[in-house]
Amino acid sequence: MSKKIIIAIDGFSSTGKSTIAKLLAKKYNYIYVDTGAMYRAVSLFAKQNNFVGKEFLHKDKLINNLDNITLSFQFNKELGFAEMFLNGQNVEKEIRTLEVSQLVSKVAAISEIRKKLVAEQQKMGENSGIVMDGRDIGTVVFPEAELKLFMTASADKRATRRYKELIDRGEKVKFEEILFNVEERDRIDSTREDSPLMKAVDAIEFDNSDMGIDEQFERICALVDRKILE
Ligand code: DC
Repeated sequence: MSKKIIIAIDGFSSTGKSTIAKLLAKKYNYIYVDTGAMYRAVSLFAKQNNFVGKEFLHKDKLINNLDNITLSFQFNKELGFAEMFLNGQNVEKEIRTLEVSQLVSKVAAISEIRKKLVAEQQKMGENSGIVMDGRDIGTVVFPEAELKLFMTASADKRATRRYKELIDRGEKVKFEEILFNVEERDRIDSTREDSPLMKAVDAIEFDNSDMGIDEQFERICALVDRKILE
C-alpha cells in the first residue's frame, strides 16, 4: 500500500517548479498549491489599493488590511489546475504580469503577510497528498515534508523561459527587464530577514539549466515512488 506524502518544491524564480508540481499532482492525484500565486494575489491587492508601487510600500496600511484579503484556489477542469481567486475574483491573469512580478518580493518580505499565508498553507497540507511549490516550503511551511526538492538553473535560462511565457501571453516586455527582474527577485527573496529562500539541508537539488522536462520528471517520479513505498 502506498502512502500519501508531502512534496515540497523550492527554488529560484522561473526554474520550472510549477510545471513539475502540476505534472506530479496529476500523476499521483495530489493537490497542487502554488504559494507564489498567494503572494502575488496579496501584491495585486496592495497595488489596487495603492499600498505598493515601484517606489513605495505603505507596509502598515497593508498590514491593517490583511483581514480584507481572502484567497482561495478553485480547480479549473479544462486547465487541469486550480486558479487563484482574490476576494471572489479570478485573478489568475493579473497576478502573472511583469508589474506584479516587480512588486511581489517587497510584499513577500513582510512578516505579518508571511504569517497569514504560511498558516493557510499548513492547513491545506493537513491531510498530506500535496505538492506545494514556493521559496520556504521545505524550510518553514513543511519542515517535516517527506520529499524536498530544490530547483536551480542559470539566470539566463530562467529569464529566457519567463520571457517566452510573457510574450506568448501577449505582454510587451524586453528580455533585459525580465532578466533584471529574475535576478532582483532572487536577491530580495534570498536576503530577506524572514524565511529567506534557501535550500533545506535535506532537500535534493536539481539544476535544470540543461535538463529537459521529461528527464527531470522521470528522475523526480523515481524519488516520489521510493518515498511512498517506504
Ligand atoms: O513562485 P513565484 O515566482 O510565482 O513567486 C512570486 C514571489 O513570491 C517570489 O519572488 C517570492 C514570493 N514567494 C515567497 O516569498 N514565498 C513563497 N513560498 C512563494 C513565493
